[in-house]
Amino acid sequence: MCGIVGYVGSKDSIPVLLRGLKRLEYRGYDSAGVAVLHENNLHFIKKAGKVSSLQSFIDDTTIKGNLGIAHTRWATHGEPNDINAHPHIDHTEKIALVHNGIIENYDSIKQALIKRGVPFTSNTDSEVLVQLISELYYNNNEKISFEDAVRAALQEVIGAYGIVVICKDEPNKLIAARMGSPLVLGIGEGEFLIASDASPIIEYTRNVIYLDDNELVTIDDGHYSISKIDSKNIVNKTLTKIDLTIEEIEKGEFPHFMLKEIHDQQHSISDTMRGRFNLEDGTTQLGGISDYFSNILSASRIYITACGTSWHAGLIGKHLIEEYARVPVHVEYASEFRYRNVIIDSDTILIAISQSGETADTLAAIRKTKKLGAITLGICNVVGSTISRETHAGIFTHTGPEIGVASTKAFTAQLTILIMLALKLGRKKNVSKNRGKKLIRALRDIDQDVVSILKNSDEVKKVAKNTWKANNFLYLGRGVNFPIALEGALKLKEISYIHAEGYPAAEMKHGPIALIDENMPVVFIAPQDDSFSKVLANIEEVKARNGIIITITDKKNNLLESLSDYILTIPNTHKHVFPITCSIILQMLAYELAICRGCEIDQPRNLAKSVTVE
Ligand code: G6P
Repeated sequence: MCGIVGYVGSKDSIPVLLRGLKRLEYRGYDSAGVAVLHENNLHFIKKAGKVSSLQSFIDDTTIKGNLGIAHTRWATHGEPNDINAHPHIDHTEKIALVHNGIIENYDSIKQALIKRGVPFTSNTDSEVLVQLISELYYNNNEKISFEDAVRAALQEVIGAYGIVVICKDEPNKLIAARMGSPLVLGIGEGEFLIASDASPIIEYTRNVIYLDDNELVTIDDGHYSISKIDSKNIVNKTLTKIDLTIEEIEKGEFPHFMLKEIHDQQHSISDTMRGRFNLEDGTTQLGGISDYFSNILSASRIYITACGTSWHAGLIGKHLIEEYARVPVHVEYASEFRYRNVIIDSDTILIAISQSGETADTLAAIRKTKKLGAITLGICNVVGSTISRETHAGIFTHTGPEIGVASTKAFTAQLTILIMLALKLGRKKNVSKNRGKKLIRALRDIDQDVVSILKNSDEVKKVAKNTWKANNFLYLGRGVNFPIALEGALKLKEISYIHAEGYPAAEMKHGPIALIDENMPVVFIAPQDDSFSKVLANIEEVKARNGIIITITDKKNNLLESLSDYILTIPNTHKHVFPITCSIILQMLAYELAICRGCEIDQPRNLAKSVTVE
């Protein structure tokens, strides 16, 4: 949520910053801006719209400089326009700041500064920070350094921030600080980058340091030092080498990241499983949680917490863990969990699921659980992310960077990990070796299943071409496929702006059936498993009301064909692997519907990939 990048080194910072912003654009894209220091002057340009529009303004100027900061915004306070875009500049026009996060007490600070005669130009919370730093630096009875002014300002604000700030009067210095919003420092040959994640950095260096909360880094004349914001104590941090490749963060021949990531699933699910099976013994190996495995095994209850798509993975995780391991599992939205009087004791385990590993609510839920004395585990995709570092232990999904805002391959990787976890726990309990082997064999065949699903794209396009004008869609599934109905509906809403709801198929009679008429497409998830005859009855009910029936199944039959307007058939597989393969065809359907509607697939309106504010 908002992407920030800073550069200092021998290169002109402008191209580095713009490339960095493009890589970070998945975090927000309603406005963008840069500020650089050059020959004792502070230059800045900020514009509503995407980074490409900022770039065209910059191309018409001669703006350059070896030290600069940049920002791509997802608006919280103040509408997306040129003035509210970052960087924010203080009223003396000497300091520039970019901010990711929310300053909760901005109004009281703003009123106090206005009383002191400080003029404000924007409606943002972020401007307060730069004006406060300016006031503390330039309008102070005692002379303090710029760094101390930043420190002092940060101690007055309440809320979350990742900031980078520069000052014309200390022109070799770049200062960044973190409290709640991620920042990564890249250390190159005679150059430094600081960014919201590692993607803008890897072209220049693989050596990074992940900042933690309450840390401030000052880069000054080719040196950096990291200290605590409040105590000024120096912190010695370890350098991490990142092994992300540029190809992984580019979309290659695909028109959209989302489509690339849907196709990545031909191998990304296997990547998630690699080295983690023991077919012989019908079980799995999950090294990341081995230190806590006995605690998980003896847990009296498990909470799963997450947001968005990851929460849907959690619902399936509940189903699987309860089925195989026979431990009660409660799935909670992290935003609710963090403020609820949850029942947590030392026998409770919290599993937090997060693709980015940075979602603010999920992180808060982890911190709360740790305070209450329980063990926390993370299922994350981004190595080095805050959640992966703050949980006691965890399992990485290893699915590669996911950049499209609508989550696809991260979701199927999360489901894969949850199956492996449930099976591992189950095998230590009452699940037989043979049952384990069956599940593993189905998972092992998944690459070819995905290839065959992707071959259905013409069929999917046909459905999309005939239904894209609908204003509403209903997705129905039962049991372990009910969360897949929720996820299918979420995908559609996110990228096509069609209103969609997911429901347990049998619950349709308790409300949604009132909406069904000849304009309502209803997507049925109908594998030929033990719930098939029940779902078939629900299909009949929709047919009787003239709804448009789109059936996803693993085996056609005459009755299904006569009832359905469209049938999408995917390979038959284990009933607990089916949710993974089924979600892929629903991703394809959402994608094709959004294409028919001419939507911005990778940057849907109002959304951001990584929600680092509450
Ligand atoms: C945002 C994204 C979703 C994602 C959710 C949770 O809403 O748009 O795609 O599922 O955040 O993100 P996380 O990184 O914690 O999985």
